[in-house]
Amino acid sequence: MATALIVLAAGKGTRMNSDLPKVMHEIAGAPLFAHALASGAALSPERTVLVVGHGGEMVEAAAQDLDPDIAVAVQEEQLGTGHAVQQARAALDGFTGDAIVLYGDTPFIRPETLDAMAAARVQGADVVVLGFEAADPGRYGRLVVKGDALDRIVEYKDASDEERAITLCNSGVIAADATLLFDLLDAVGNDNAAGEYYLPDIVEVARARGLSATVVTCDEAETLGINSRAELAAAEQVFQTRARDAALEDGVTLIARDTVYFAHDTVIGRDTVIEPNVVFGPGVTVESGARIRAFSHLEGCHVSRGCIVGPYARLRPGAELANDARVGNFVEIKNAQIEDGAKVNHLSYVGDARVGEHANIGAGTITCNYDGVSKHHTDIGARSFIGSNTCLVAPVSVGDEAMTATGTVVTKDVPAGAMAVGRAKMEVKPGLAVKLFSKLKAAKAKRQEGS
Ligand code: UD1
Ligand code: MG
Repeated sequence: MATALIVLAAGKGTRMNSDLPKVMHEIAGAPLFAHALASGAALSPERTVLVVGHGGEMVEAAAQDLDPDIAVAVQEEQLGTGHAVQQARAALDGFTGDAIVLYGDTPFIRPETLDAMAAARVQGADVVVLGFEAADPGRYGRLVVKGDALDRIVEYKDASDEERAITLCNSGVIAADATLLFDLLDAVGNDNAAGEYYLPDIVEVARARGLSATVVTCDEAETLGINSRAELAAAEQVFQTRARDAALEDGVTLIARDTVYFAHDTVIGRDTVIEPNVVFGPGVTVESGARIRAFSHLEGCHVSRGCIVGPYARLRPGAELANDARVGNFVEIKNAQIEDGAKVNHLSYVGDARVGEHANIGAGTITCNYDGVSKHHTDIGARSFIGSNTCLVAPVSVGDEAMTATGTVVTKDVPAGAMAVGRAKMEVKPGLAVKLFSKLKAAKAKRQEGS
């Protein structure tokens, strides 16, 4: 069945105490709403509508960045979850199929849970609600179940003492045929304790029309919503614990698991070893059998089989390491291809460059890629040898099997097989050190006599 996702993200998020809209706060390097969209992706939605309010332009821009097919609907005034869903109606014009409502601030709904909801729809339930047994039901909406059927949902504010004693709670996730959903919402009013249009009220309207409603349950952990910085920090921890478990399960060694931080999209191959205190920013793929040594930071990069990176390495966006490349301590690589077996082992910056296979980059080498206005490319040939402390002033190239002498400032292209030497000529003056020492010592002794 075709599915449309409606993700509610218009809430102010006052408790975040932030200038940023709540759903722009990040877990594992991705905004909260992107996590909700990732859960929803399990249903391969034909359309996705994000309902935004406070800070809408910023959320819209981020959503467009993520996927230009996402439609954004604006809820000018936050009049309740039912009203928020109504705002998605225009974007779903002409759509036939199921609609499923998710919250943009609820990042951990598992794909399997949404599959179970879709299955309940296929089995004939008109409205499917995701519920959970709450350890502390607090102010959640309560699910009033009669026999096998869901009778209605009552908000805490509107509930009787008897209803408040119910521990089966509403997660907020709801699925129904899209046309029916909007039809039911048309019949929902705001005559309640909050004066809001409640989405959960569609259950009561549906039942009154002789339609069926049912509950699918999930673990409370999945329904964890973010309302404060403390909850955001707790959610980050939940994410990291899961990501570490998944990496270990996938055959990755983590020497000190609790010190390794993953991004939402980190991919690591089997038999790769991650040493302590490694941070993965977004967009990293590490293939099998690599080793990421301690205290390294990687983002937007690709590390191939057999590479050794670090300790203390920084791989920035566009760093592409081919098989068996080596990037050592205090080395920064940005937007550069390090080809098979090439080595950049010590204290170097390589940016906007290609380092050919089996080339060796000496300690302290710098690609001077920026002239203050534009960035320029450096091309280093295969099997070349770049002497320690070489500055490569881009745009510039060094051919295959060429060499640069230690300390050379390379300002002209070096042809294949050539050697570039660019430094002041050194002289040796026999006996001069002895003479100079005695002169300096005599001068010091004279000063001390005088004082
Ligand atoms: C809602 C449910 C409650 C459920 C709880 C689960 C209603 C009336 N109540 O309560 O049954 O147990 O979630 O967490 O639905 N939003 C908008 N526009 C609005 C109002 C809300 O986009 O006008 C969005 C918020 O950004 C948020 C979500 O909808 O992502 C839920 O809103 P929230 O105010 O947190 O609802 P609760 O009162 O917690
Ligand atoms: Mg809430």
